[in-house]
Amino acid sequence: MNLALINIKQLVAVSTDGNRIKAKEDMRELGIIENAAVLIENGVITWVGRMEELSMGSLKDTEVLDCLDNVVMPGFVDSHTHLLFAGSREDEFALRSQGVTYREIAARGGGILNTVKHVRQATKKELKKNARQWLSAMLQQGTTTVEIKSGYGLDTQSEIKMLEAINELNKEEVMAVVPTFLGAHAVPPEFKDQKADYVETITNTMIPYVSSKKLALFCDVFCEQGYFDVEDSRVILTQAKQFGLHVKLHAEEFSSSGGAELAASLGAVSADHLEHITEKGIQALLKAGVVATLLPGVSFFLNHQYAPARKLIDAGVTVAIATDFNPGSCMSYSMPLMMTIACTHMGMTPEEVITASTLNAAAALNLSHELGSITVGKKADMIVLDIPNYTYLPYHFGENHVVKVVKDGVVLEC
Ligand code: NIG
Ligand code: FE
Repeated sequence: MNLALINIKQLVAVSTDGNRIKAKEDMRELGIIENAAVLIENGVITWVGRMEELSMGSLKDTEVLDCLDNVVMPGFVDSHTHLLFAGSREDEFALRSQGVTYREIAARGGGILNTVKHVRQATKKELKKNARQWLSAMLQQGTTTVEIKSGYGLDTQSEIKMLEAINELNKEEVMAVVPTFLGAHAVPPEFKDQKADYVETITNTMIPYVSSKKLALFCDVFCEQGYFDVEDSRVILTQAKQFGLHVKLHAEEFSSSGGAELAASLGAVSADHLEHITEKGIQALLKAGVVATLLPGVSFFLNHQYAPARKLIDAGVTVAIATDFNPGSCMSYSMPLMMTIACTHMGMTPEEVITASTLNAAAALNLSHELGSITVGKKADMIVLDIPNYTYLPYHFGENHVVKVVKDGVVLEC
């Protein structure tokens, strides 16, 4: 099936040369084409150029989407979410509004373990039903690829239930879903004071099973005081690599622990959070080519310190942004909202947040060879926005500007 997008007032290609990541000043080069058109064959972009270069006669047997002088950009890649969950945690939100901290709530048995109770009780079908709602709302708001982590099961059976649900969603839904195994999200209650035994369960039972059934592409660990320390994280992720999984890390969220250096030494694809990353950590990520995935919604929602986006970008680290959508630390899946927060609170420019939400976010999932820019040869995942120019997107926040979504070359009814 062929598709043509015509009458695009401003096309935001993000990359024109097929490069797989962007850093430094390059993050601000969006490959803008005014009065543009795009041609797609069998879900793949075959031509990008100006309207006047397009011969309308060549559009026979082609579905035409008139973009009505709107803006077109790549679909957003949300490279860090925990969107498969049951229950909700507005009670914790209310407590935080009275000054109780995320850590205090976790110490009282709330936090991640609160959601674990609900997820263990839920069936796979119930989990998928919740997730489907989120996925279709995300698609309508412009996200076309999403990573989903396990990590609210924390026993072998429940972690497998989560990963099977995530893989089934990928097959059944229009959204592209990337599965990540996060058995090391918290120490479950039955292993309280026996963390080493839980780490052994992860390495000796969970990882071999997840790998043999191909249930995940990535393995992640929450590396933080009170959760898993740098040594635990090293042991788990080294085993994951041996079993063919790529690795990611929740690093330096509440404190500086050396998680960024660990991610670098393991050749992680991304290190995520980084609110408390040190100068040494920044240099380590840079040298190892690890993508720094920043999560503006978490600092906003928990009223925590923001990650030093400016320092990371100026140092040359490849920076991505994601929502971290989860019931505890960011109850939002809006990529445009994350962009606005990154501009207003983290010193990023509109150009940088667009690159960070598309091409660099695809790189955080090892997918930037096929996603994240409107470049010939890449998958046709694109969105049409009813805005006058791309800067307007993070500027006019709290509003859904997406009017059409093209996923794998098909125009969706949103
Ligand atoms: O990325 N930091 C660890 N995990 C999540 C929070 C999950 C939760 O509170 O349920 C995060 O912020
Ligand atoms: Fe997270």
